[in-house]
Amino acid sequence: MTTDKNRPALLIGLTGGIGSGKTTVANLFGERGVPLIDTDLIAHQLTAPHGAAIPEIRRAFGDQVIAADGSLDRAAMRALAFSDPAVRKRLEAILHPMIRQQTDLQIAQAAAAPYAIVVIPLLVEGGNPHERFDRILVVDCPVEVQIERVKKRSQLAHEQVMAIIAAQASREQRLAAADDVVDNGGNPASLSGRVDALHVCFLELAAADSNRL
Ligand SMILES: Nc1ncnc2c1ncn2[C@@H]1O[C@H](COP(=O)(O)OP(=O)(O)OP(=O)(O)O)[C@@H](O)[C@H]1O
Ligand SMILES: [Mg+2]
Repeated sequence: MTTDKNRPALLIGLTGGIGSGKTTVANLFGERGVPLIDTDLIAHQLTAPHGAAIPEIRRAFGDQVIAADGSLDRAAMRALAFSDPAVRKRLEAILHPMIRQQTDLQIAQAAAAPYAIVVIPLLVEGGNPHERFDRILVVDCPVEVQIERVKKRSQLAHEQVMAIIAAQASREQRLAAADDVVDNGGNPASLSGRVDALHVCFLELAAADSNRL
């Protein structure tokens, strides 16, 4: 924890595999008044029409990857990245620092709150998550349940879902990094009790930290 005035006393990094229920769980904390910082949403805004990343993406890859409305043409970008693996790295080199900067800004804006939650899908994949966060909260469910939910939501083929899951950290790797786990393998109705308990725990940890200032 920290005495840095540019962030809440306690910063929680929330992660989980694709379709595990990160957004569902984060929203339950949001309903309890906890500031949520969603890096997926930030990435989306950066590449929306007139998004802050669009000029640099256009410079790097040309008009071919910009849609008529001025947003990133995801299909064109995917096609380009498919034919040239370096393209993805170059796109990430543009987006990641901007996502990081906007995330830090939103963390600073939440500084008055006891704690805040930052949702980062690939948190475990990006090195030691405890360098940036006081606690890591993992939303967990069996891989078969993940596959079923993602297919239901997105019409992706089974092989595509499997490829995405294979490219992410394993369930075991995520759980090894977790300080707290929300089991989302069952009924969503059971989530709110678990979130209530964690919320009380996080508020207590944040208050204990603030008392030492
Ligand atoms: N316990 C549950 N039981 C049944 N369906 C659920 C449960 N939790 C979440 N879902 C559904 O599964 C899908 C994935 O959930 P959610 O969007 O919260 O996951 P996510 O981890 O944020 O996914 P993504 O990786 O795409 O961001 C959604 O359609 C959601 O409504
Ligand atoms: Mg989500």
